Amino acid sequence: MADNFKERFSQAVKETETVVYSYLPEETGHQKTIFEAMNYSVKAGGKRLRPLLMREVYRLFGGNGPEIEPFMAAMEMIHTSSLIHDDLPCMDNDEYRRGKLTTWKAYGYDMAVLAGDALMIYAFETASKAFSMGADPAKVGHAIGILAEKTGIYGMIGGQTVDVELTGKAVPREKLDFIYRLKTGALLEASMMIGAVLAGATVEEIKEVETMASEVGLAFQIQDDILDVTSTQEELGKPVLSDKKNEKTTYVTLEGLEKAKRDVKEISDRAAGRLAGLPGKNEFLYNIIEMLVNRRN
Ligand code: IPE
Ligand code: IPE
Ligand code: MG
Ligand code: MG
Ligand code: MG
Repeated sequence: MADNFKERFSQAVKETETVVYSYLPEETGHQKTIFEAMNYSVKAGGKRLRPLLMREVYRLFGGNGPEIEPFMAAMEMIHTSSLIHDDLPCMDNDEYRRGKLTTWKAYGYDMAVLAGDALMIYAFETASKAFSMGADPAKVGHAIGILAEKTGIYGMIGGQTVDVELTGKAVPREKLDFIYRLKTGALLEASMMIGAVLAGATVEEIKEVETMASEVGLAFQIQDDILDVTSTQEELGKPVLSDKKNEKTTYVTLEGLEKAKRDVKEISDRAAGRLAGLPGKNEFLYNIIEMLVNRRN
């Protein structure tokens, strides 16, 4: 992909990080340890994909206010919270994340559980700051509702439930699709839908954005499964063969590596087609979706 895309992308990641970091708590007070554990996990790195996509969809629909920023930060906090808990010994039992020790390795189980809880709820404290930024309160309220629903039992947590419950068991394709749509798709859906909602997209447009994001999420998780068997820890920043260790049925074990690769491309092309059909134009967003298919981390 063109060098100027890479440059623009890394610039956008930097800008996203500046926004996200500006909402993190200061590390002072008696409960300082929780602040440190939260900040350690968020600042460890990561692609910052969800807040980045949120802002690009916001721009696609003509959004240009500051109220997107607390939502960007909130989304990265929720995503990080899901990773902290996903890595716990009672879940995937992984020791590295984003190139550093996982939160439970660095701060202990107790603080990792609390840091995950803390980031999830501080996300909502953060998002609600958008009410005092001059945006339409109905839109902000709608966006907070989406954030909650896509995080909770009908979203990421629901998906993680089925994922852990079926560990070590044979999973039919239809159930695997359900897991992926929820555990990974839901937060990507929330990210892009919130961008659309805050920018004033119509009900039909928001629905189309949700479908597009769900496809991006499915392609993204299949690629994550592929990287689990084809990448290296250095490249990924997290252990490879984690799924095998945990006896997970994945898209790769179910369909084979070659079909998985073809399907990532096909599903992501479908998402790109949907983007082309939306009003407005955002070439950068299109390039990001394209990039995700070939990503190495
Ligand atoms: C990892 O998400 C968890 C999955 C849903 C596969 P990312 O691959 O976006 O993780 P970071 O944020 O870049 O670390
Ligand atoms: C994670 O799926 C989805 C989450 C909601 C955290 P994985 O367990 O495959 O994610 P990684 O590979 O540990 O990042
Ligand atoms: Mg997992
Ligand atoms: Mg995991
Ligand atoms: Mg994985």
